[in-house]
Amino acid sequence: MGRRASLPSHSFLTLDEVETSNKRIFLRVDINVPLDPSTHQILDDTRIRAVSETLARLQDAKVVLGSHQSRPGKDDFTNLEPHAEALARFCNQDVEFVEDVIGPSARQRIAKVEQGHILVLDNLRFCAEENVDDKPEKLLKTHFVKQLSPLFDLNINDAFATAHRSQPSIVGLTDALPSAAGRLMEKELRAVSGLLVEPRRPSVYILGGSKVEDKIPVIEHILTRDKADKILLGGVPAKLFLKAMGEKISADDEKEMAGLQAHIKTAKSLSMKYKDKIEVPVDLAYGDTRGKRTDRSVEVASKESALDIGVKTIEKYSKAVEGAATTVANGPLGVFERDGFDLGTKKVLEAMAKSNGYTVIGGGHLVGLASILGIDERFKHVSTAGGAMLSLLSGQSLPGVDALVRAANRMRNQKVN
Ligand code: 3PG
Ligand code: MG
Repeated sequence: MGRRASLPSHSFLTLDEVETSNKRIFLRVDINVPLDPSTHQILDDTRIRAVSETLARLQDAKVVLGSHQSRPGKDDFTNLEPHAEALARFCNQDVEFVEDVIGPSARQRIAKVEQGHILVLDNLRFCAEENVDDKPEKLLKTHFVKQLSPLFDLNINDAFATAHRSQPSIVGLTDALPSAAGRLMEKELRAVSGLLVEPRRPSVYILGGSKVEDKIPVIEHILTRDKADKILLGGVPAKLFLKAMGEKISADDEKEMAGLQAHIKTAKSLSMKYKDKIEVPVDLAYGDTRGKRTDRSVEVASKESALDIGVKTIEKYSKAVEGAATTVANGPLGVFERDGFDLGTKKVLEAMAKSNGYTVIGGGHLVGLASILGIDERFKHVSTAGGAMLSLLSGQSLPGVDALVRAANRMRNQKVN
């Protein structure tokens, strides 16, 4: 079965090693995109454009494409019709949307899909089973996998951004069918897992956003493995580390930290162990009564919640980026949706865009902002993933990738026997 992909610690098959001509292929992508909550118009099509290389490679096949969009209960949990329309604009193939996932009408249509055509199934999470993470052996027995797998010759997983989920379309179908990674999956894994091999130094990480539970494991892993020289914090992680380091935070931010005791404890020991590497803001931006931005040193007691890193911090972080050979960023540094409080995120992204070093950004908010600023092309790698990128950087294995490795082993053994 050909050579293995020369990716660090992965040994799955790629599109260079599988026969696709006239084969009926299930192609799992992640085109879960930001949508306008009322019109369902696509607000950022980065993830849709990102699958075009795989689609171009599969022009000789009969492609049935599946993706989720958001989660049950959210405003943007909707059908995939706008996505199918957008795909049709990016590739010069016939794209047809089917308003079904695993029911009789979808299965009949899948059975008749023609070479060179792309059939887009509806939101995979319309199937309840697709919303539950489970063990691979359980996923193999789902209705989802039993209904779909007999219809396909091959499964291609190009959904790097969902590879951290152990769900039927990511793991179950990969275990049930001959499977390989798509071009985007390959490119993303090479770029992101490469950061854990030998990053060019100095290597700087900029971590922000509203979640701390997915950033702390990254900080811990990359510092323990000595893959970063500086970690620059913004957003909620900055407030958490300020608190852990015994600095003042505002009364409202104190309240936000109340439920994060366990994380504060970890942050405290990390900041003691890696004193010279973890940097917190020296000033923060607050909104006055009219919502206008005022920057204050962290030493000044404030009441309201901080909304951005301050200008002195922006200067400091931008300088660190300028001198870095590798820069990785995930999560905005402030409440960038509010007028004036996108300054920190914007300036740091612009510093990265100017850098000659290896620059990687990930997470929907940062990537969306970079594309609004028109600078997205200037990063060495723009990841389509948020959570999956962080899982990988925190040393966790990705269930979707593990399943691809199992598939490659199975296919190799079958070839030998
Ligand atoms: C994402 O945007 O995080 C991916 O599409 C995965 O979606 P999920 O976090 O809802 O599983
Ligand atoms: Mg997510």
